[in-house]
Amino acid sequence: MQIALAPMEGLVDEILRDVLTRIGGIDWCVTEFIRVSERLLPAATYHKLAPELFNGARTQAGTPMRVQFLGSDPQCLADNAAFACTLGAPVIDLNFGCPAKTVNKSRGGAVLLKEPELLHAIVREVRRTVPAEIPVTAKMRLGFEGKEGALDCARSGRGRRQPDRRARADQGRGLQAAGALGMGGAGAGGGWRTGLRQW
Ligand SMILES: Cc1cc2nc3c(=O)[nH]c(=O)nc-3n(C[C@H](O)[C@H](O)[C@H](O)COP(=O)(O)O)c2cc1C
Repeated sequence: MQIALAPMEGLVDEILRDVLTRIGGIDWCVTEFIRVSERLLPAATYHKLAPELFNGARTQAGTPMRVQFLGSDPQCLADNAAFACTLGAPVIDLNFGCPAKTVNKSRGGAVLLKEPELLHAIVREVRRTVPAEIPVTAKMRLGFEGKEGALDCARSGRGRRQPDRRARADQGRGLQAAGALGMGGAGAGGGWRTGLRQW
């Protein structure tokens, strides 16, 4: 099991990441979401929200940091993700979990769970654009209003990979087989993380 420090926009900034990872027990942390809508953000924005990029994408205590994006435009997300990789992002994380009304009304976060095809397009484009050695992960909830679409949404990560024999055999075990890690006690939303490269 790995312990991740939950990203919290407006709270878990580089100072709190530094303080908490110094205490220990955290395997990796994530930036606050970086919202992208229609343009490539400048390097200065990344360095402001993720100054750990100057330190090999690790906190001062040496804990790895991932860069998280929020948005709904596949191409724009992909371009920004690829740019973040050139600045040293070791893992790209996509936010499909934020339930905040202000975020959802601009078509970002958990509201995208209502549109599995869009999730698929986002993941496919980001995976296609980001260098193959950089993992792409996604954070999502069981659903926006109900849990019915959870598997459809989680499977959006299959991307261009055809399921091999082992993956097909594992489908019966659902998300766990796909690389999902439970987030015990994470909260009412029941979020989980899925290693999309493993689909
Ligand atoms: C103030 C606040 C800001 C948050 N910002 C982010 C964020 O930037 N990225 C993200 O993936 N999750 C964010 N979250 C969600 C948390 O990381 C965590 O998954 C969540 O609070 C778990 O509980 P819930 O499912 O009951 O919301 C935020 C949560 C709160 C309360």
